Amino acid sequence: MSGSNELSRRDFIKVTTGIVGGLIGAVIGLPAVYYLIDPALREGGKDAWIPIGNFDDMQIGVPYAFSFTRVQVNGWERTASSFGGYAVRRSEDPNDLLILNSRCTHLACTVNWSAEAGAFLCPCHDASFSIEGGVLHGPPPRDLDVYEEHRLTEDGLIEIFFKES
Ligand code: FES
Repeated sequence: MSGSNELSRRDFIKVTTGIVGGLIGAVIGLPAVYYLIDPALREGGKDAWIPIGNFDDMQIGVPYAFSFTRVQVNGWERTASSFGGYAVRRSEDPNDLLILNSRCTHLACTVNWSAEAGAFLCPCHDASFSIEGGVLHGPPPRDLDVYEEHRLTEDGLIEIFFKES
């Protein structure tokens, strides 16, 4: 009788030790596992509204340069990419803005506005684009790309809708 009691006490200690050990392992191990797999579960990037400048700072007929950086997360890899463009204000109406991407449509060099030439110039292969983004000269196969959606915030900022590709 006392032998079977001793045996069940041993079993109880074994089970209790196993449970306590398992709990300690879970408390220590789960955060470590979460830390390791968390980056792989995160979304790569998100579409977002990006502020590009104050509407009042944009003069009618004078392209307003802007730039921004987006960080893309792909698992454990983080990649920062720079983007830029020009907002061309045509009137007092904030909806009457043309927002051009400054990446040349030929081989992706950055175009710059030249007030002297009255055009966007690409330094790589001597291309030029009109203030509306149309190809004037050079090898680009199409007009400058346009950020299609923008809005005016209550604070007077112009934001563009950036789609992560
Ligand atoms: S990259 Fe602009 S003309 Fe070639």
